[in-house]
Amino acid sequence: MEIIIRENRQVASEAAARVVARIVREKPNAVLGLATGSTPLTLYKELIRLHKEEGLDFSEVSTFNLDEYIGLEKEHPQSYHIFMWENLFSQINIKPENVHIPDGMAVDIPASCAAYEREIVAAGGIDVQVLGIGSDGHIGFNEPTSSFASRTRIKTLTQQTVADNARFFEGNEACVPHHCITMGIGTIMDARMNLMLAFGEGKADGIAATVEGPVTAIMPASILQHHPNAKVFIDEPAATKLQLAEYYRWVYDGKPEWQKDA
Ligand code: GLP
Repeated sequence: MEIIIRENRQVASEAAARVVARIVREKPNAVLGLATGSTPLTLYKELIRLHKEEGLDFSEVSTFNLDEYIGLEKEHPQSYHIFMWENLFSQINIKPENVHIPDGMAVDIPASCAAYEREIVAAGGIDVQVLGIGSDGHIGFNEPTSSFASRTRIKTLTQQTVADNARFFEGNEACVPHHCITMGIGTIMDARMNLMLAFGEGKADGIAATVEGPVTAIMPASILQHHPNAKVFIDEPAATKLQLAEYYRWVYDGKPEWQKDA
């Protein structure tokens, strides 16, 4: 794992965006795995800026989102479809047919999950998967005790995740669906690169457990220790519980500029 600690969310997100941009420039038909939540918003803003000001071209890029709530129409204001179109897709030159988000209204959800897995393979696999981390250590919506071998499937959210995500539903927990479709941990681990973002002191315990704790299904993000190319971009508040923070800073600061985007 590579741990990149930057002074704030903006600088960390810009560093992460440079990695994504490098991949897209080298491989114009790159396959991006994308996440929702508040964490990746600054990264998406930076990708939009790179598109508008530096011509970063998404015309051949495909995307696969991690997850979606079950029972929300695509047009529902809290659906991850709307989230992604509002915060990224409508502002870059991606082709709508190249965007993939699990369908929370599918009639046969297990069949649609299997089809989602096949579509990822048909696209050539995910080149870089963007990840946030839930307060209970979930990635996508893979809640604690999710199998490390899991594929795209239905999950039930923990009560904590329902409470956490109520902020997107005007604070009304009763409106948060309890079920979702999420890529599995096995699906996420198949990505060629995993790029986790975490900001704020509220993420410090989760990041310390992910990076320096035991690999355990009770902390799903800890599986990234087994990924051959996982990068964790965090701000100083999210780094406060890391034992080896000084070492991570020293490693990153010692790299030549070109290698920081590698
Ligand atoms: C949701 C998403 C996760 C995300 C998490 C953290 O549960 N399914 O992919 O990582 O929220 O959200 P935030 O980034 O707002 O802290």
